[in-house]
Amino acid sequence: MQHMKQEIKRTLVLGVESSCDETGIGLAEVGRGLLAHRLFSQIDLHAAYGGVVPELASRDHVRRVVPLLREALAAAGCGLQDLGAVGYTTGPGLAGALLVGASFAEALAFSLDIPAIPIHHLEGHLLSPMLSQDPPEFPFVALLVSGGHTQLMRVGGVGDYELLGESVDDAAGEAFDKTAKLIGLGYPGGPALSRLAATGVPGRFKLPRPMIHSGDLMFSFSGLKTAVLTATRQPEFDASQTADLAAEFQAAVVDVLCAKALAALKQTGLSRLVVAGGVGANASLREVLKRETARRRARVYFPELEYCSDNGAMIAFACAMRIQAGKQGAGTQGAFAIRPRWPLSEIA
Ligand code: KG4
Ligand code: ZN
Repeated sequence: MQHMKQEIKRTLVLGVESSCDETGIGLAEVGRGLLAHRLFSQIDLHAAYGGVVPELASRDHVRRVVPLLREALAAAGCGLQDLGAVGYTTGPGLAGALLVGASFAEALAFSLDIPAIPIHHLEGHLLSPMLSQDPPEFPFVALLVSGGHTQLMRVGGVGDYELLGESVDDAAGEAFDKTAKLIGLGYPGGPALSRLAATGVPGRFKLPRPMIHSGDLMFSFSGLKTAVLTATRQPEFDASQTADLAAEFQAAVVDVLCAKALAALKQTGLSRLVVAGGVGANASLREVLKRETARRRARVYFPELEYCSDNGAMIAFACAMRIQAGKQGAGTQGAFAIRPRWPLSEIA
């Protein structure tokens, strides 16, 4: 085992994502950006169970990771010998699923004698809007809205993340998923609920906008699903009203996310807002944030839709950006650990 910091001799970086139910492989060139990526989503595998089954997720990552790497290398016209470093999602996420990506990445890096670099999953999401044609510049406010997290951060540069506020209970994506289940929609709930919401009218039901006037940048979404449950249990409720209820639920989440994101811009004095994570794919959230930021001479940036949910491109890209900024650390040097729980504010 080596104890010296491993030198990075080549600029091609492999990114490996396996924190939940997507196996992702990305190839990025330091200073140039993404070359290729491949993704396998396990949605069909878990749909029968109504949610992610961790052990099935781990086993499927094992099956997918090598073929995806081969495909991505072929698409980029590269070989293993061209790799200069391997970045992989160390956490947060499902322990077993993380272990698959970690052991794969570590073994590959060891065999090629190149550094293995742990990457924080949320940093991947945070930087993913920079993969687009018209990327935002630092500093910006990031609204991170995924299945596990709802956070507002001030992003000063690579590794410079200040937490401004977060959910005290359910994440926005989790609220979408749980509410979708409640009203009889399948997994994954977020996209299904937003499709149904598009056919309904908000305002026919009245749901709360939790913590919208709390005067800080904290969120709470767990009460909203209870409010939906209560509405469905009223004697006058019938199934034909489900779309209206979904529309009102979505409007409530979007209202709160938008109000707090604008408050964060005001508090930090910044004019760039970046939205990242799976809920960033929500069409209504996109539309409202575009309109409201424009009214305030601010601007909102979204990742391309293919980089909103989990993917390997964002991990390769985050790793390449860290190397470019000289912030890749010493690498794991073979002594690696996964971090299923890992606050973003703990990384430097
Ligand atoms: O970032 P992501 O792919 O995985 C995590 O790191 O959690 O986010 C997944 C979450 C799920 O809760 C999913 O329901 C939600 O993003 N989501 C959506 C939409 N597409 C995905 N929520 C609302 N509207 C959507 N269109
Ligand atoms: Zn994610």
